[in-house]
Amino acid sequence: SAAEKGGYDYFMLKEIAEQPKAVADTLLGRIDGSGRLTLDEVRIPDAVLREADKIVIIACGTAFHAGLIAKYAIEHWTRIPCEVELASEFRYRDPILGQRTLVIAISQSGETMDTLMALRHAREQGAKVLAVCNTNGSTIPRESDAVLYTHAGPEVAVASTKAFLTQLVACYLLALYLGQVRGTKWGDEIHAVVRELARIGDEVERVLETMEPVRALARSLAHKDTVLFLGRHVGYPVALEGALKLKELAYMHAEGFAAGELKHGPIALIEEDLPVVVVVPSPKGRSVLHDKIVSNIQEIRARGARTIVIAEEGDEAVVPYADHLVRIPATPTLLQPLVSTVPLQVFACELATARGNEVDQPRNLAKSVTVE
Ligand code: G6P
Repeated sequence: SAAEKGGYDYFMLKEIAEQPKAVADTLLGRIDGSGRLTLDEVRIPDAVLREADKIVIIACGTAFHAGLIAKYAIEHWTRIPCEVELASEFRYRDPILGQRTLVIAISQSGETMDTLMALRHAREQGAKVLAVCNTNGSTIPRESDAVLYTHAGPEVAVASTKAFLTQLVACYLLALYLGQVRGTKWGDEIHAVVRELARIGDEVERVLETMEPVRALARSLAHKDTVLFLGRHVGYPVALEGALKLKELAYMHAEGFAAGELKHGPIALIEEDLPVVVVVPSPKGRSVLHDKIVSNIQEIRARGARTIVIAEEGDEAVVPYADHLVRIPATPTLLQPLVSTVPLQVFACELATARGNEVDQPRNLAKSVTVE
């Protein structure tokens, strides 16, 4: 009913709008006044966390994309090697697991069979499993050694939005916590990140307030067959997520690529007026990556692409090459997905609506897939 949807036409719109609160709720009580992480729920002894020599993240769909982003944060802040694998691929290749492996299973529903089977396999091999989950008492957290709950609240729309943002928050907290337990050397950076996390809900809100041009753009592209997405670093999984959303909701051919791979193949796809969304990394600090992506935008535009550029406020270098420019607030590099994903959700939702698709219940998909 309309009341259940809080006045929105679709649950997805309501859930997109709830993201600032979902993010804030997931942070609540987990950072103390001095900026230290207090993750009491992570009931895995510090000694085990200190000795972990490998982290393996398993998940499906959108949760897998959260895992891909988490890898950048985990390896940077903890220096523990981290692999991310689709749960459906994981156990069938006889993965190398042991008592010093920490497995992180990410799942909104906590019932995804592929993820559950992968975590059972990991525990049988002696690995410790930590679940990142949005559903209290569901199967995946019950079968894990510990759980860090995301507090997105119930997510009804099949395409995951607020759960994804809270999965990112939980993974950042976990990465920072592991760094804290293991005595990471990134003290100043971690304090800056913790401060920024505390403000990020407001930044997401600001992005939401500026989405009308993105909706208009989406409507104008409703007749297109293909949209490509490019990103680098943490922007690469964001590109994959943007493409997945478009497949799920708009039933369009959409693909995400690492921008550096363009020249190794995907650039052959560029043709006149093809919409290409580019997620641009922060211009500061990571200037090498930034310069490279600016030249990628130039390259595709020279070949006729219609460039839709998602870039931080104050990033002027991209302006001459952007047919459409979507501004996001400046954040520390690793946190950018919390703001850059939001326009892609809005874009997919509006495009799907413009094509007459049922946004909350896309064809052929289920919210929770309980078969392998
Ligand atoms: C289904 C949903 C996706 C979701 C995936 C993983 O395929 O349609 O939106 O990302 O399952 O779900 P989970 O509940 O494990 O996060």
